[in-house]
Amino acid sequence: MRTIREIQDSIKALKAETGVCILAHSYQSPEILEVADIIGDSYKLSAAAGEVPAEKLLLCGVHFMAETAKLLNPEKQVYEANPDAGCPMAEQFPAEVISAAKEKIPGCAVVAYVNTTAAVKAVSDVCVTSSSAVKIVGNMTQKDILFIPDCNLGAYTQKHCPDKRLHFLPGGCPHHSAITLEEAQAAKAAHPSALLLVHPECRPAVTELADYVGATSGILNFARTSENREFIIGTEISIVQHLKLECPEKRFYPLSNRLCCPNMRATGIADVLRVLTEIAEGSAQELLLPEQIARDARRCLDEMLRLGG
Ligand code: 13P
Ligand code: SF4
Repeated sequence: MRTIREIQDSIKALKAETGVCILAHSYQSPEILEVADIIGDSYKLSAAAGEVPAEKLLLCGVHFMAETAKLLNPEKQVYEANPDAGCPMAEQFPAEVISAAKEKIPGCAVVAYVNTTAAVKAVSDVCVTSSSAVKIVGNMTQKDILFIPDCNLGAYTQKHCPDKRLHFLPGGCPHHSAITLEEAQAAKAAHPSALLLVHPECRPAVTELADYVGATSGILNFARTSENREFIIGTEISIVQHLKLECPEKRFYPLSNRLCCPNMRATGIADVLRVLTEIAEGSAQELLLPEQIARDARRCLDEMLRLGG
């Protein structure tokens, strides 16, 4: 059996041979992050996908991230390390449900969290990420906004955009939204010197209690640069592991061990090697999107970049 180091060495050799750029979400395992060319949250990956010169991109994350990379780079070849890794929130509502809900709110604009399928983006007006939702909604001309699918990120956005009237469907991340106020209170009581940093996909009762609310990159930056030495991390527990490795002089505690996304864990270093090998052999399955959906969904992402992504 090969060691992780040997697999990583093969990956590096195949990257050099094929010119593939590996993009990995920050929730991926340390061994994948070590071979990635770009690491980031959903926003950083979307932005970087459009800027890297490589013609072939390999996404380590969940399906909507690969779709986003393809939408922003229609001319590039995009591959997924594990095409079965999806985001349950992104697949929560079919496009027809969104269109029907929009019709019931005259004059509204549909704001789609980037955690949506290309088909849902195609019927939406503008996309947002967790780090850009407040800025983009604040910059929109419409007062009524149908914000989908995450009603927790929506509630957080509403709080910071009091002039807007946001409407929701009952969607959200099954892991972040499962964390209760009682769990947050218990974590704070167990670690009284720690600052609580949470993702806006958590319930309003939890974000209200937090010392900092932000996307994955915001949480990482806050923890890295804060003078405080202890932190409770209210997002996927991989971030606790990464911060412990990166800042050994500080202490990090998970808000809850239930904050674990199986889909983000579904990609292993062996998947990365397998798909790179297939790319080198010319047998890899490239991600392709129906043309009309891709055109409409791209408009939604372009609007995100125009309004201040
Ligand atoms: P961000 O990467 O935008 O922080 O979102 C976290 C997440 O849940 C990704 O699916
Ligand atoms: Fe989707 Fe939640 Fe997993 Fe992120 S953590 S990929 S939002 S299910």
